[in-house]
Amino acid sequence: MAGPGVSAADRVLEARIGAVDVRVVIGRGGVARVGALWAPEAGGAAALLIHDANVAPLAGGVARSLKDAGLRVVSASVPPGEPSKCFAELERLTRLAAREGIRRTDTVVAVGGGVVGDLAGFVAASYQRGVRLVQVPTTLLAMVDSAIGGKTAIDLPEGKNYVGAVWQPRLVVEDLDALATLPARELACGFAEVVKYGLLEGGGLWDRVEEWPALPGDPGALAELVADCAAHKLRVVTQDEHEGGLRASLNLGHTVGHGIEAAGGYRHHTHGEAISLGMLAALRLSETGRGLDPEWRERTRAVLERHGLPTRLDAAIATDDVLAAMGRDKKADAAALNMVLLDAPGAVALRQNPPHAAVVDAIEELRA
Ligand SMILES: NC(=O)c1ccc[n+]([C@@H]2O[C@H](COP(=O)([O-])OP(=O)(O)OC[C@H]3O[C@@H](n4cnc5c(N)ncnc54)[C@H](O)[C@@H]3O)[C@@H](O)[C@H]2O)c1
Ligand SMILES: [Zn+2]
Repeated sequence: MAGPGVSAADRVLEARIGAVDVRVVIGRGGVARVGALWAPEAGGAAALLIHDANVAPLAGGVARSLKDAGLRVVSASVPPGEPSKCFAELERLTRLAAREGIRRTDTVVAVGGGVVGDLAGFVAASYQRGVRLVQVPTTLLAMVDSAIGGKTAIDLPEGKNYVGAVWQPRLVVEDLDALATLPARELACGFAEVVKYGLLEGGGLWDRVEEWPALPGDPGALAELVADCAAHKLRVVTQDEHEGGLRASLNLGHTVGHGIEAAGGYRHHTHGEAISLGMLAALRLSETGRGLDPEWRERTRAVLERHGLPTRLDAAIATDDVLAAMGRDKKADAAALNMVLLDAPGAVALRQNPPHAAVVDAIEELRA
């Protein structure tokens, strides 16, 4: 698919989500082409570039490309880490936008992982009732998951992602070269979501996930893998933007996973590590509840271990704490515990309130 800024080796995904046309460009060297890719739609306006302080050099490359394309650029650096998804940062960034004369016709450009993507996305969704958004994800997790689908949010002390909006990015530029500086633990965290897509889609995608060598592997092949995961999420969100049904399938491993993440005080495990354990619990529940062949849990465990993800639950995390945290999960209805189960890779079954004893067994099984 040709067009300004698109290179022959790129994978370009296009979808209409609600009333918004979303374009995702995946390949190498995209950071230097953000301006060329966005300029035809930007119409020479200004860009508020919000970036993670840890990716300042990448953000500098994006800023240069936007300026070269004729845009005025206002840059803002955000401290790394989840605490930046807060009202204080939202206020600081929106007031900066106002002082710098950013208007409704301008663009917010997010450069960073899911933290900056969610925060800058909510700035875009709320500033002057909404301005256009471009996502430039720089973590594997953001490339396959958070930059796609339009969920934006900040956290409250009472709960993660409790204040936010669904606001689709017009353009997502995924530059695999940006992963060169990403720490190994963060790369593994993103790979947990890649494994999730392999299980949800089955078939050839699962085969490639199962055979994937040590991370990151060949960048060209990784671009293809990332593109197929992003395409899976884009397809699901196109059919169910507001999580009435199908989109919930993307929570495979996240019900127990969030419980483990919260029970560890968000310090013990990264999100991807908790999801690694949560997926194994979901597969165990799929065995007891749906007759899934136990070989899939063993094969999934082998893949997760190969990529340095945990497959055994630490004794420091109590089952009761996990269960209590699952009840508080925003994604669980007040009355119901929603679980994503599998009949087989590629065959998803959404299940409400699996038997309590089976949930306890699935968590305890992680200690075996
Ligand atoms: N909106 C959604 O649909 C969605 C989905 C999943 C997760 N999330 C959110 O995403 C967040 C987690 O995202 P994340 O895992 O990308 O974490 P993150 O944004 O915190 O990034 C992880 C770490 O990597 C650093 N970093 C980022 N890119 C780098 C690079 N290229 N080189 C070196 N360092 C780099 C960051 O500074 C940070 O320290 C959470 O807040 C979560 O709630 C949102
Ligand atoms: Zn996740």
